[in-house]
Amino acid sequence: MTNTARATFGGKFGVLMATLGTAVGLGNIWRFPYMCGAHGGGAFLLVFILCILFLGLPVMITEFFIGRHSQRNVTGAFDVLAPGTRWNLIGYNGVITSFLILGFYTVVSGWTLEYMFQSVFYSFEHKTAVDIKADFSAFSTDIVRPLFWTLMVVLITQIVIMSGVKKGIERSAKVLMPLLFVFLLLLAIRSVTLPNASVGLRYLFEPDFSKIDSAAILSAMGQAFFSLSIGMGCLITFSSYFGKNTNMQETAFQVNIISILVAILAGVIIFPAAFSFGIQPTAGAELVFITLPNVFAQLPWGNLWAFFFYALLAVAAITSVISLHEVVTLYLHEEHHISRKKAAYYVSFAVVILASISSLSLGYLKEYTLFGLTFFDFLDYITAKIMLPLGGMMICIFVGYRIEKRILKAELTNEGTIPFYFFNSYAFFVKYLAPVAIALILLYEIGVFKFLAGLF
Ligand code: PHE
Repeated sequence: MTNTARATFGGKFGVLMATLGTAVGLGNIWRFPYMCGAHGGGAFLLVFILCILFLGLPVMITEFFIGRHSQRNVTGAFDVLAPGTRWNLIGYNGVITSFLILGFYTVVSGWTLEYMFQSVFYSFEHKTAVDIKADFSAFSTDIVRPLFWTLMVVLITQIVIMSGVKKGIERSAKVLMPLLFVFLLLLAIRSVTLPNASVGLRYLFEPDFSKIDSAAILSAMGQAFFSLSIGMGCLITFSSYFGKNTNMQETAFQVNIISILVAILAGVIIFPAAFSFGIQPTAGAELVFITLPNVFAQLPWGNLWAFFFYALLAVAAITSVISLHEVVTLYLHEEHHISRKKAAYYVSFAVVILASISSLSLGYLKEYTLFGLTFFDFLDYITAKIMLPLGGMMICIFVGYRIEKRILKAELTNEGTIPFYFFNSYAFFVKYLAPVAIALILLYEIGVFKFLAGLF
């Protein structure tokens, strides 16, 4: 495919909204509160923010560089920038990671559709916290219903993917992302005015440093990568569609800040409500799905609120599913010369199989575990906590050591037409700080230091 045949995104707002469409999703609203709750609240939030600013931001800018400079898919990009080398393994890691993330992300996206449906046909009104919890566990461990909704998610994705990049994604993201933000804001106001809300707010904002252990740091780093969609080339694929005048440093900065804000907002919604309704913050993957219906049950026109909220959440989720799917589809299309349509069908088919296994692993196949985790949790763990950080580290090493600084600077400053005030610090971060920090965190979790300490 030649460069000119590739569609590019239109205006500045469109680029930001489309990138946010990819980045903001279940990661911020479903996964963040659940991880934060599992690792002690405030301390996790703090480490998460540090990871976003010191690791996420440089990695995101670097992915933008790779994508727009090469104008290729995630593996092709490395073939263009380092021909004849094995650096393209970073791209393969990205393709596999995207596929594995789709394996559980589409399942959770399906849950949002189920809840949208429930808010219309089975009201949340008059339900107690105990009923709501029981309903979720009955649903998520069911065989047919979650599979049906997962299938719907994949079907919608398939349709959007085939209708083209620019039209489908950009147009809807421009309207729906700001709307989701407004909705979250309103829900946050409702949540902090619930009885006992202050306990939840303290839980989120008062760091208890004794809760910071290697597992919490690894989770916070994984959450930062997951929530920014970095480390697996999704943004390489995305930025390959950026126009030559897109200000990539600015876009990355804005996406990072907004991603932090949305996660905090989700925390401000979930924790006060959880404490108010007597739900444990450590409830795990179901936290958002058992907390929010309690809030809706108490609101006037609660079902209407619930419907719009879950609809917007479903859109945020599906825009992320689309970009994950696009990574694999574009790779097959450009590298293996399969038509776009056919490639998309193959990917959808394989995703349905993987997602079915991960959905069933929460109920019917619960007994079958990998390293003590259900298949669903296993996919989440290995992608977010291992493959994404590893991918991010390799991306930094690649650009830090393989790419001439002059070329990097020219691309990031749009050939010198816009300034990049912190270029030297950025380059230092990419070359030294980010790879070393990520490596240390990964090694720490694997227990290498404990092992070494045992030797002496
Ligand atoms: N960042 C997305 C979210 O927060 C998830 C995602 C990860 C999307 C990786 C694309 C790639 O929901």
